[in-house]
Amino acid sequence: MKTISPEAVRTTPPFDHPGLYQVGPNEYRAVVVARMFMYQPTTLTVPVGATVHFEVTSPDVVHGFEIPGTNVNLMVVPGHITEYTATFHNKADHIIVCNEYCGSGHQAMLGRLVVK
Ligand code: CUA
Repeated sequence: MKTISPEAVRTTPPFDHPGLYQVGPNEYRAVVVARMFMYQPTTLTVPVGATVHFEVTSPDVVHGFEIPGTNVNLMVVPGHITEYTATFHNKADHIIVCNEYCGSGHQAMLGRLVVK
């Protein structure tokens, strides 16, 4: 398992530049920071059929990264880089939800994955 110092998330590549990066034909790397109480980036938009390699970490507390209706259901633990690969075969507008209680803003911690 890959590790990262939570204090250094903001300054350590790739997490100093969260975002979606194309790494092949319809293949992407999603670098995501889950923090109180948002995801960076907030929205990920990929084409139908895209394979996405998620890399997610947290600089503060344990968060979830679940995309209902898909196989993506990750626990994001400070100090660790959680990796998961998924392929999105259908057009959809998915929400990304935090399914680990993380504090007062937990309910509002939402992201979005658009497959178009
Ligand atoms: Cu983040 Cu709940």
